Amino acid sequence: MSDIATIKIGNKTYKYPVLKGSRGPKVLDIRTFYKDTGMFTYDPGFTSTASCKSDITFINGEKGELRYRGYPIEELAEKYNYIEVCYLLLNGNLPSKNEALVFDNELRHRAFIDEGLRKLFDSFPRTAHPMAMLSSAVSALSAFYFDHLNVKDDKDFKEMAARIIAKIPTLTAFAYRRVLGIPIIQPDIDRYFTENFLYMMRAYPGGKMHRNIGKKAPREISKIEIKALDTIFTLHADHEQNASTTTVRTVASTGAHPYAAISAGINALWGRAHGGANESVISQLELIGNIKNVDKYIKKAKDPDDFFRLMGFGHRVYKSFDPRAKILKKLQDQLKDELNLDSKLLEIAHKIEEIALNDEYFIKRNLYPNIDFYSGVILTSLGIPRNLFTAIFVIGRTVGWISQWMELKKDKKAKIARPRQLYTGA
Ligand code: SDX
Repeated sequence: MSDIATIKIGNKTYKYPVLKGSRGPKVLDIRTFYKDTGMFTYDPGFTSTASCKSDITFINGEKGELRYRGYPIEELAEKYNYIEVCYLLLNGNLPSKNEALVFDNELRHRAFIDEGLRKLFDSFPRTAHPMAMLSSAVSALSAFYFDHLNVKDDKDFKEMAARIIAKIPTLTAFAYRRVLGIPIIQPDIDRYFTENFLYMMRAYPGGKMHRNIGKKAPREISKIEIKALDTIFTLHADHEQNASTTTVRTVASTGAHPYAAISAGINALWGRAHGGANESVISQLELIGNIKNVDKYIKKAKDPDDFFRLMGFGHRVYKSFDPRAKILKKLQDQLKDELNLDSKLLEIAHKIEEIALNDEYFIKRNLYPNIDFYSGVILTSLGIPRNLFTAIFVIGRTVGWISQWMELKKDKKAKIARPRQLYTGA
């Protein structure tokens, strides 16, 4: 294909450059289209629109391929821990042993929360959704950390990035304990990122951890649990220009505070069509309740007049299996016994998958299980309540949002996001 495209409108022809990236579809550069033609292009939902150039994450939806900085997700999930993946996304290369140690240490020292911000949680009702508390607390971080925002200084970027990545798990654990009505626990500097999150969730007031004598779930945090949750964080770390990342970039393009941009991303992710789907998947599996009812709900999902949709199925980009879903399914099979996964929910989920993947309606529309279809059963086995699932997604995705925010900030040609419209009013 030539690197020039010709568009004929009426008796006029216009030529536009075709730009080629390092992977994936080429793009038609139509930045002067309105100036040339007096017309807009029209693409609600951005199904055919590239909003930016990016070096961070690449998805091949047809092949079910996902790469962070060129590394396949399968390799990263298996061989590296989440902190190493964060370093890769932020810096563009995997850390050396020493770089990983230094970065891990930076995060540990920044995981603590100012007492004033901690008090914010006392004002929420115990019925508050953790996502409401988390997005408010992250926005409030901008009231406590206005410094280190000299966007021209790489050191300040890295400090701000480390701070928000480190504090979000603590704020999430605070929200969890607020709902329980028990005193919150500050992080333990001697524990690794993912273990620390489980510690802040499970420790008794005063920070003691001990086995529940006689109860099936010991309170100590096992290596299996840490690896499972660490993998979940890695799988959620970044995903090109999805709705919440587009929100973060849009807010960043106005020059707003980075914590305001991340808070906006958290709110966008909350939607059940996006990151809120993981919570809805478990509710849906419980609603279906028995494999005998699966056919009835598959029928509802296919009925255009029924609002019911199969949560955890379908994806704007993946037109084959979501590679993250494949890794999670393998993790489920590995951990079924060790983590005592809910076999009833698993049975229903597998029945749905078996029927849907052989049904014309789903095949024709390329509807496959996505990451949210499998994450919930594992999170449930880690003692994470359903209303915290999307906050877990936030913990994993924050590094992606921050990496994309930094990439936009360093783009000298970045402009404020300001789409136009097809006016149909009076
Ligand atoms: C995430 O973008 C990302 O990368 C997101 C994410 C990330 O990491 O950031 O991957 C995370 O958000 C995963 C998706 C989680 N959401 C869900 O599981 C909710 C259920 N899925 C759907 O709402 C839907 O599939 C979307 C939102 C995920 C994608 O929607 P699209 O691309 O806009 O597709 P569409 O709504 O136009 O659907 C195309 C057709 C329609 O049928 P027709 O009008 O052609 O007859 O497929 C049907 C839809 O009705 N369809 C479904 C369906 N999903 C799409 N039918 C039944 N059940 C479903 N789940």
